[in-house]
Amino acid sequence: MTAIEIRNLSKSFGAVRAVDGVSFTVKAGTVTGYLGPNGAGKTTTLRSLLGLVTPDSGEALVNGKRYRDMATPLNEVGAVLEATNFHPGRTAHNHLRLLCVAAGLPVARAEEALGQVGLAEAAGKRVGGFSLGMRQRLALASALLGEPKVYILDEPANGLDPAGIQWLRGFLRHLAHDRGAAVLVSSHVLSEVEQTVDDIVIIAAGRLVRQGTLAELTTNGEKTVRVRTTGDGELAPALEKAGATVERLDGGALRVHGLEPEEIGRIVLDQRVVLTEMIAERSDLQKVFLELTEER
Ligand SMILES: Nc1ncnc2c1ncn2[C@@H]1O[C@H](COP(=O)(O)OP(=O)(O)OP(=O)(O)O)[C@@H](O)[C@H]1O
Ligand SMILES: [Mg+2]
Repeated sequence: MTAIEIRNLSKSFGAVRAVDGVSFTVKAGTVTGYLGPNGAGKTTTLRSLLGLVTPDSGEALVNGKRYRDMATPLNEVGAVLEATNFHPGRTAHNHLRLLCVAAGLPVARAEEALGQVGLAEAAGKRVGGFSLGMRQRLALASALLGEPKVYILDEPANGLDPAGIQWLRGFLRHLAHDRGAAVLVSSHVLSEVEQTVDDIVIIAAGRLVRQGTLAELTTNGEKTVRVRTTGDGELAPALEKAGATVERLDGGALRVHGLEPEEIGRIVLDQRVVLTEMIAERSDLQKVFLELTEER
């Protein structure tokens, strides 16, 4: 089910075509990474979805609607934008309670949301003393208040330490995979999102460069596994018999096309050879990302 739809979206600022005819969709139950180098047009696209940028042409819809046509936007879409400003003198708890009151949500949601992002203990502290990572968590908590099924997050990993990034990955996957939410998360750092996302949309200089599932973009559909064993000669014919195509590499390793690592492992076991190396190979998405973005 399509939860977010960007259709032929264009937006210029003066002579700069920030977004140029971009189209993509985000399905419920998936995390989609919106990737591109600095200035690619990510924030402009996300702000269009939230009614903060008026497109020159095309549409940016959540649940088939424009943001400004939503009766209760906080129940439909949760957003975390870059450089969110919080009143420094307010506590985290108060900040969220005010949002609840303004949106007609039960104030108990403030405490629940702080708990969900791991800020329960900092609830009574003034936001002015928060680290960047804590501010990101607070921004995420405000997105959770209305328990929406669509999340739009602009570089939410900025300022998080490695443990925070790890936590964020798990949390976004939980929202999508356990709660059925559609999550659109932007980043200019591929490695930040490649362990989180199901789908990827790559943009550079305002134009869509590539889109697909993570698997499609990393392997173009083909998986290979490199194996090395102590038993020469016995394994390759057994793998071929099981339907694999086997390349013999320099140094005695085999590159196996067409079998899953587990299937190969079972054949190794049957052959009673000793495995010294087994690596599932994927084309390096980082390389793909750089090549794609440098082309323009
Ligand atoms: N309000 C604005 N006024 C003028 N130019 C703008 C405005 N917003 C964005 N731009 C320009 O549009 C282009 C795309 O910017 P955008 O912020 O969407 O990129 P981004 O992909 O989010 O980049 P980053 O990774 O740096 O956040 C850039 O050239 C930027 O300078
Ligand atoms: Mg940006």
